[in-house]
Amino acid sequence: MLTAICRYGPRVLAGTKAIVQRCRDRGELIQGPDIRRFERALAARIGVADAVSASYGRVAFYYLLRALRLPEGGEVILPALTFWVVPEMVRVAGLKPVFADVDPRTFNLDPVAFERAITPRTVAVVPTHLYGLSCDMGAIMAIADRPRVKVIEDCAHSLGARYHGRHVGTFGDAAFFSFQTLKPLNTYGGGAAIARDPAILARVRAQAEAEPWPNEERVNNRLKLGAAQRIFSRPAVFTMTAYPALLIAMLWKARPDVYLWEKIRPLSPMPDSYRERYPNVQAAIGLAGLERLDAWTAQTRAHARIMDDALGSLPGVRAPFVPEGCEHVYYQYCLYTPDRDRFVRRALRHGVDVETLHVDVCTELTSLFGEQPRKPHAEQASQAVQLPVYASLGERRARAIARRIRRLLRDAPPLTEAAVNSRC
Ligand SMILES: Cc1ncc(COP(=O)(O)O)c(C=O)c1O
Repeated sequence: MLTAICRYGPRVLAGTKAIVQRCRDRGELIQGPDIRRFERALAARIGVADAVSASYGRVAFYYLLRALRLPEGGEVILPALTFWVVPEMVRVAGLKPVFADVDPRTFNLDPVAFERAITPRTVAVVPTHLYGLSCDMGAIMAIADRPRVKVIEDCAHSLGARYHGRHVGTFGDAAFFSFQTLKPLNTYGGGAAIARDPAILARVRAQAEAEPWPNEERVNNRLKLGAAQRIFSRPAVFTMTAYPALLIAMLWKARPDVYLWEKIRPLSPMPDSYRERYPNVQAAIGLAGLERLDAWTAQTRAHARIMDDALGSLPGVRAPFVPEGCEHVYYQYCLYTPDRDRFVRRALRHGVDVETLHVDVCTELTSLFGEQPRKPHAEQASQAVQLPVYASLGERRARAIARRIRRLLRDAPPLTEAAVNSRC
């Protein structure tokens, strides 16, 4: 019988239950010493002096925007291809998001487009190291230095990624990370901020520590939800549960996966769950997870290499482009394919659940950001598919997926080279 593969595979520590139980036994589920230990270990891992934890990555970003004391109404440049929540937090902080186009080969902020978007009102730029690949930080820092634009790196996807040997997050004035379930380090939610100037980080800490502690019920529910996500993404369970539902939905041309995504909406006032501190049990999981991070990244990279080797030379297909000097962590493995929607349907029928747009083309979200000039490269980039390469797949399954996908793509009518070039 066919075993279907889920698009998502959270990174879960073998000893999670024991860590949670230890925190419970010590009465340290919510408050405890692991929070500071985790912040210090994270900072050491990235190569900076300190870090501050927060309820979400987006909230760490919000604290940074405020700590940088940017003038109200100032313009913050972001890539048009990013998670909608990030520009929305810019608005929540009383600033104005301005979108610049991306490089469709890397999916990251295009330095030329960034430079063109600068006006006398520009106060900051947010290079997002999308899908686990560093932005061109050499070019971005050179441009940002001239009119003195603050640089806040969005490292939500990219813990472990490097640019010319240096960890992402260490180039700009500040950076933030996410520890949401699917991220490189999964602590069942949470985030962290770092900043070059200790005074700015102190202002971030003051905001984070002024929030109330979450209650136990909320934290327990978060842990339970994380466990459920883990169970449902296992191939045997996925094959018997979500997979048949996805197949039926495909026949009806329905998109049940939209229910997995966070509803696009204004975030002001901020939801209650944002306004709370990062709990000790999640920090304890993070602390242990940091020890495993390199092994997880190595497994994910090995799976990405399997896909590259199997698919990269097929006509009309573009495997992820990794510029020289960048070390990709493949939070997502993005592939351009001919006839994307047909490919996604065929892949699902052959047991591979493929994602189509993991983030958003924010210039199309007029309900939040109003009418915006179109960003053609972000729109092109949104046509790539994301194949599963996550660490828990294992080499055997990664090879089986590569074989299935290769067969599907080989049998598809090829795009002409001109059509491929017009897309990339
Ligand atoms: C590119 C990007 N930035 C920021 C975030 C925000 O992270 P969090 O969900 O921890 O707030 C996400 C979350 O998925 C993201 O994809």
